[in-house]
Amino acid sequence: MSQWYDALEAKQLAAGTMKGVEVGGAKVLLVHGASGIRAFEDRCGHMSAPMSIGTFKSGVLKCALHAAVFDAETGAVRGPPQLHAPPAQSLPPEMVQAFAEMGKVMAQIRCENLRPFPVAIENGRISVFV
Ligand code: FES
Repeated sequence: MSQWYDALEAKQLAAGTMKGVEVGGAKVLLVHGASGIRAFEDRCGHMSAPMSIGTFKSGVLKCALHAAVFDAETGAVRGPPQLHAPPAQSLPPEMVQAFAEMGKVMAQIRCENLRPFPVAIENGRISVFV
């Protein structure tokens, strides 16, 4: 059942930083951006990598796995995953073929917006509704 959960002391999330927390059995990414604190599900909209191991810079969140980029205010996709194989001349032929096949599969996987959660700050504590 969804409810509000205490997540973190607000002063532990400095402006311009992000932090992964677990509340109510959900993995949540807290982001302290230009307009305040936001909360998203801590999984990339592409292939579910934890966004908390990515980066937060200049108002965007970047996934550590394939570098998809998301708006840190809304979670909207701002840039698609980068799925580049190493240069073919540096790989044995069977690896080149494997990357080609993997590329066909990866091209079918959509990149969705990050799922936002309601967030509230009260008495210096951050709460998230999950
Ligand atoms: S899992 Fe995040 S970009 Fe692929």
